[in-house]
Amino acid sequence: MCGIVAYVGSREAAPLIVKGLKRLEYRGYDSSGIAVITDQALKVFKKKGKVKDLEVVLANQNNLGNIGIGHTRWATHGEPNDVNAHPHMSNSGRLAIIHNGIIENYASLKQMLLNKGYEFKSQTDTEVLVNFIEEIQKTKNCELPDAVRLALKDVVGAYAIVVLDKENPGQLVAARKGSPLVIGVGHEEYFFASDATPIIEYTKEVVYLDDLEIAIVNQDGLTIKNLQNEEQDPEIQTVELELEAIEKGGFDHFMLKEIFEQPKSIADCLRGRVNPDEAIIQLGGLRSHIGKLAKAKRIVFVACGTSWHAGLVGEYLFEELARINVEVEYASEFRYRNPIIKEGDFVIAISQSGETADTLAALEMAKSKGAVILGVCNVVGSSISRITEAGVYTHAGPEIGVASTKAFTAQVTVLTMMAIATAHAKGTLSDETYRQLLIEMAAIPEKVEKILEKSEEIKDISKLFTFASNFIFLGRGLNFPVALEGALKLKEISYIHAEGYPAAEMKHGPIALIDEDMPVVFIAIKDSSYEKVVSNIQEVKARKGRVIAIVSEGDRDVKSMVDFAIEVPKTHEVLQPLLTVIPLQLLSYYIAVLRGRNVDQPRNLAKSVTVE
Ligand code: AGP
Ligand code: GLU
Repeated sequence: MCGIVAYVGSREAAPLIVKGLKRLEYRGYDSSGIAVITDQALKVFKKKGKVKDLEVVLANQNNLGNIGIGHTRWATHGEPNDVNAHPHMSNSGRLAIIHNGIIENYASLKQMLLNKGYEFKSQTDTEVLVNFIEEIQKTKNCELPDAVRLALKDVVGAYAIVVLDKENPGQLVAARKGSPLVIGVGHEEYFFASDATPIIEYTKEVVYLDDLEIAIVNQDGLTIKNLQNEEQDPEIQTVELELEAIEKGGFDHFMLKEIFEQPKSIADCLRGRVNPDEAIIQLGGLRSHIGKLAKAKRIVFVACGTSWHAGLVGEYLFEELARINVEVEYASEFRYRNPIIKEGDFVIAISQSGETADTLAALEMAKSKGAVILGVCNVVGSSISRITEAGVYTHAGPEIGVASTKAFTAQVTVLTMMAIATAHAKGTLSDETYRQLLIEMAAIPEKVEKILEKSEEIKDISKLFTFASNFIFLGRGLNFPVALEGALKLKEISYIHAEGYPAAEMKHGPIALIDEDMPVVFIAIKDSSYEKVVSNIQEVKARKGRVIAIVSEGDRDVKSMVDFAIEVPKTHEVLQPLLTVIPLQLLSYYIAVLRGRNVDQPRNLAKSVTVE
């Protein structure tokens, strides 16, 4: 999700906020804007595009006052454009808000407000929130801090917000739940931001607001309360980190940051969609398509690279759970092959950027042949999300590292939800298995967290393979696509030649490559193909191959056979790819770093291949 900056004090607010938004630009954005109070007027300037596009809008504006709020957006509700950009004003024009996160119950709140005569200019959930706050302020005749507090009691979702009130020009009211918000405490001046990056050049004294807390800054200084209106003691801390380090959240590379973000990005992807207690999966974007998907004769996934690997996982899931015939096509091949597409076929594009030229072209060709086209994208309002008739956003947040990590697990999470929902609609999944899968899905983020705790162990293993010239990755079933993904990760950031193969296929050629210089990574978790994989491991060991195995927690047998074993928690077999890929991401990252590679921008690669 994107960035928030706010300021009140003796400095001019606008230039400070814009500079702060630039510091948050690494978080990705699709529009930006600021709101200030000057000469008793609340003024909003906002623009689609980069922060520099906002600067053009502000070029002739001077003396915009010493209080303001600013935002760089990572759209979740409503495509990137000027109207959906933040800040959003309330109907009366009295309040302005900036928001980082997702208001899950925005639709019901919006309907209530529409019934009361409110009008909305944007498609965002954020504009609903600021008008909900205004409605409470009016009906309860209360001050902004109480209106915010009472409103948030009825809000479901994630937020970091800062609100301006034209009638209290020296006051900022902020709150957070699930999205980050840092308060900078200066000398008679206060800063709010999504992280300390925009703050530390002015002050290193900060307060990290906790979830469900509200911060009020006015002439009396800083007050922090909980939603029960009880004052909390602000714990002022001194930020030690330097500017450069913070932009990566303290990580050495964006790729490592994004690997470690996966418990959160998977949780964000599941948020508001998987509810084990009520045994429901709600994919809003596919509400009118799940029934049709359940009747589909054929599904074709089109994608490139890592997204193609996610499509392979999707193939196994839809065939296994929903018993639907699935094909996975490289978009670049599919678009030129004049494929057979029948009415009612579903062609589903998987793309982090939503801009990959081959995938876009494959979709357009499928549409021209009468297919139903859907999208699984990470970037709201991207070209693929715009040409498809429906789809599901992965909500992984901006992925900066060229090597895709959190976007892959978010894609697999979405495809898993789609397959389970389709199977349940089709009746090929028992209620018991359906419920079990939902419970297991909800537990995935914490299981990913457990694997990330082994990062030092994996780093140690990577030291022994830093100078390998080749690698083979082997897996069966749902872990065959994971083997392919592990090989792609390693080759694209370390430049080591690596191949992924179905474990059984090794005997049909690749086994000739096995010797003591050939590291072989096996995914050997306790699933339906475990015994077969163990035999493949023994075949490799018999030829002096060095084996790194990804094993189920507590598996002593494979551990005794191989050179290195990395344990992953147990989960339902169909959810395993979300766990088994994590050690492979870390292994490739550490090897690449030890080889001195430019991990975030590997040679010859681009984050989004928008050319053929
Ligand atoms: C993956 O690490 C690579 N960056 C690349 O293979 C990527 O997955 C591919 O270019 C597809 O990109 P997309 O998901 O944005 O369409
Ligand atoms: N959900 C809000 C929107 O789509 C905020 C997204 C963000 O975190 O930038 O505008």
